[in-house]
Amino acid sequence: MHPRIDLLLALALLAAAAWPLQAGDSDAAARGKKALETRAFTPSPWPFAAYDNVWKAWTPKLDKKPTDYDRAFREHYGLHAAPYENGKYPMGLRPGTFLLFKGLTTDCMLCHGGSILGKSYVGLGNSSLDIQAFFEDLNRTAGIARKLPHTFSNVRGTSEAGAMAVFLHSFRNPDLSLRLTTRHKWELKDDLCEDVPAWWLLKKKKTMYHTGGANSRSVRSIMQFMLTPNNSLATFETEEPVFRDIQAYILSLEAPKYPFPINAKLANTGRKLFVKNCAKCHGTYGEDWTYPNKVIPLKEIDTDPARYHGLPVALGEFYNESWFAKEKPAGYKSMQTAGYQAPPLDGVWATAPYFHNGSVPSLYHVLNSKARPKIFTRSFRTDEADYDKNNVGWKVQILRASPGTNVPGIERRKVYDTTQPGRGNGGHTYGDAFTDDERRAVVEYLKTL
Ligand code: HEC
Ligand code: HEC
Repeated sequence: MHPRIDLLLALALLAAAAWPLQAGDSDAAARGKKALETRAFTPSPWPFAAYDNVWKAWTPKLDKKPTDYDRAFREHYGLHAAPYENGKYPMGLRPGTFLLFKGLTTDCMLCHGGSILGKSYVGLGNSSLDIQAFFEDLNRTAGIARKLPHTFSNVRGTSEAGAMAVFLHSFRNPDLSLRLTTRHKWELKDDLCEDVPAWWLLKKKKTMYHTGGANSRSVRSIMQFMLTPNNSLATFETEEPVFRDIQAYILSLEAPKYPFPINAKLANTGRKLFVKNCAKCHGTYGEDWTYPNKVIPLKEIDTDPARYHGLPVALGEFYNESWFAKEKPAGYKSMQTAGYQAPPLDGVWATAPYFHNGSVPSLYHVLNSKARPKIFTRSFRTDEADYDKNNVGWKVQILRASPGTNVPGIERRKVYDTTQPGRGNGGHTYGDAFTDDERRAVVEYLKTL
């Protein structure tokens, strides 16, 4: 064959091979979206009536069911209207089954569905949720007397996802068979106060989770979120292709754009400061973006250490022997890293509060460590009235002291006390040497990402 024709043929074949691959990816993302919006991966613990009656467990006691109950329910627990068909339920709660019974269960969007300026997004971390009250109240209303096995949340907007993983893995052998009577006795720390990362950042990341401890392309790693004892190895194997689709969908998400006017001149001044002082860790933005995917040693970043130290080394070792690490073709092992990953900052205007523990309410405060509020509360609503356009983040009220233990949990958890374990707001002092004008410029630039 003529070499030219050979080459053309090869190119045509390549093009033909590449095309279905791309189409396949977007099909996978569409299937993943559908799976997230229509399916539950854990059995339903609660009868439908628990939703309708749970207001009777609220403090202060109500003498009748609130009008516009669905809204009252969302606001009480910090949930958000679903931007897809979900009946009367908010994102995160949906009908499911348990053996032959139908009832209510939770899904990924309980933590990974949020709203900002009155608009809901799948993939925006839920920084309003009181997951502790949500589980306690629904369990009580459903007549489930058992206490939660550990604290699910110490402070509103954060959860103890790490402790859940430690607890749920402790019932398993490496082949995922159950060990109900002899569970692993790993140390379980439930004061890590984890903020939920935005899903739209995953596509830039090579490693994920706050410490960068897992490969961001691991499908099985995110299947840990369906580790209730009722799910068997067979279920995990059946659902793996579904989670591959869910991952494709997560990788297709884009950050929302800042919807208010931006001072372009100020932002440009900020961009130069950012490139000089921040880009080496957080990358550059725009069409030719770069992202260095750096994990900064704890000593250097010096933000709260609890999350870093919070997951037992033995769990990592167990994980690496287990089904989770044996994904085809090469497997993805969990990794011990030296500190916290510097995340990409796309859409960062929408993801307050900041740092892995949500201890800093605004971008201005990220850049001025001495001015960070020590004890504060906020509305936990996400409307324009609650949004601080000046500092970029949530409006907060500063308090002089934390509420005492006589105050009901749901009220106590509304207060972020940075003197408490897991909630330190120190470290990341890279903006401290700026003047306030320089900080304002960098904040203006961050709005454009
Ligand atoms: C109880 C709340 C909660 C639920 C439910 C939940 N997640 Fe998460 N997710 C988190 C938290 C918190 C993190 C950060 C964990 C860390 O590093 O400390 C996270 C991290 C992730 C990450 C990594 C993000 C990154 O950039 O590092 C992915 C991907 C993810 N979750 C997917 C899922 C999927 C898919 C589901 C449903 C099957 C799910 N999650 C359910 C709370 C939750
Ligand atoms: C030496 C590396 C490094 C430098 C330099 C750096 N950062 Fe960071 N940044 C990090 C790390 C690591 C984190 C995560 C810390 C944590 O969550 O505990 C972070 C977190 C942040 C966050 C919070 C992100 C979120 O979603 O919670 C913002 C905003 C931020 N940095 C902005 C900046 C800006 C602006 C600059 C420049 C003035 C800067 N950073 C300089 C490493 C760095």
